[in-house]
Amino acid sequence: MRFDVITLFEPMFAAITENGITSRAMRRGLWSLQTWNPREETEDNHRTVDDRPFGGGPGMVMLAEPLARTLKRIRRSGNKGRVISFAPNGKKLDDQTVRRWVADQNDLVLICGRYEGIDQRFLDHYVDETVSIGDFVLSGGELAAMVLIDAVVRQLPGAIKELSTLDESFSTGLLDAPHYTRPEIWEGEAVPEVLLTGHHANIAKWTRERALEITLRTRPDLIEKARIEGKLSKSDTDWLKTLRD
Ligand code: ADE
Repeated sequence: MRFDVITLFEPMFAAITENGITSRAMRRGLWSLQTWNPREETEDNHRTVDDRPFGGGPGMVMLAEPLARTLKRIRRSGNKGRVISFAPNGKKLDDQTVRRWVADQNDLVLICGRYEGIDQRFLDHYVDETVSIGDFVLSGGELAAMVLIDAVVRQLPGAIKELSTLDESFSTGLLDAPHYTRPEIWEGEAVPEVLLTGHHANIAKWTRERALEITLRTRPDLIEKARIEGKLSKSDTDWLKTLRD
């Protein structure tokens, strides 16, 4: 899967190309990344990529032209995929969207805005969708783009053990149950007994109940969603009832 990213801060992307699972997946050839600096597509002495907003207001706005020229170079280099930009006013990124991109494995072009934003005409003419990673404001789209890439790449077949992504939070519709490792007793606290028994059915029951409990407590909206989507069994709803009583 190929990502082309337009950014003024190319070195930031070393965070995902040189570290951890995403780096290993890249070495295995599961994905590739090319960054493009729109400054390269300017012709003035100052290599200007931004200007003051018409109508006034704080901050600077990224110019449409250097972005459009960069995008055309990306198209000529072979990436024909969807164009995604990042801003707090975009559609909130979620597991369902991530899984769709993973299933398609089409190339993506990611546009990282800085300053107050990007000239709306560029967004209207060239961008297919705008993505937000949450209700807060970042200094630019780079971290959001890396969040998207990381979430997609770790799910590409071969990036990590198959079972682990099927089983984890959100694919089940619930938050993850707690995890424990050695030592069995740490700072006076023992690992939950059942996890040491090797009794798979009991462990699965315990894990499911903890997942239901933490989801009910911290994200009750996800319980409701799981119920509507038919992801809760009779024993799940019985257990939830005892928690609520
Ligand atoms: N750029 C600035 N804030 C952002 C956010 N919350 N999500 C995505 N991109 C952003």
